[in-house]
Amino acid sequence: MAEKKARIAVLVSGGGTNLQAILDACEKGIITSGEVVLVISNREGAYALERAKTAGVPGLTLTRKACGGQQAFEAAILKALEDAEIDLIVLAGFLAILSENFTARYPRRIVNIHPSLIPSFCGAGFYGLKVHEAALARGVKVTGATVHFVNEIPDGGEIIAQKAVEILPGDTPEILQKRVMEQAEWILLPNAVEQVCGEIIGTEK
Ligand code: GAR
Repeated sequence: MAEKKARIAVLVSGGGTNLQAILDACEKGIITSGEVVLVISNREGAYALERAKTAGVPGLTLTRKACGGQQAFEAAILKALEDAEIDLIVLAGFLAILSENFTARYPRRIVNIHPSLIPSFCGAGFYGLKVHEAALARGVKVTGATVHFVNEIPDGGEIIAQKAVEILPGDTPEILQKRVMEQAEWILLPNAVEQVCGEIIGTEK
């Protein structure tokens, strides 16, 4: 067991299956260097918040609309992160873009999971099912998922881990999304979180 654990905040927008994969990995001892202490959703009623509640993790909803704009939205998130003394921010299906003003405060301390092999099918406008629709429309035979550090360029930060997933005849965006989650995302993200948390508590010792 690690002596000290990195304090993780997971930012979500929807169903939260990647959040669940992280929570399960903490439970199973796959993640030992960090613990999830806060979940923030930018959508009211996101199912991910139910998952947080079930796991006993505090959940918070902060929307751009309720905050009155991007700057106030980011300021509210930053305050919540600071109040909870967060070491690592995980974007797990968080579908809002964060400005450079935000990302510059946490260099190599924000990670994102993206459902393609970056640099394919990524950047502004590529999120959720749209990514898989684009991969199928282009006719690629292999796709996958990428975990990367977040900087000011959407999906442009340093790559931490990638895993390829086969595209099969008859795939729909929904079928492909499920295969990419099962074969890549839910494995890759917890492993990357453990790796980065290990680096964080290692550097702080
Ligand atoms: C996941 O496939 C994640 O990779 C993707 O949204 C889905 C969220 O699912 N993220 C992006 O497209 C980010 N650009 P989840 O809420 O069940 O984890």
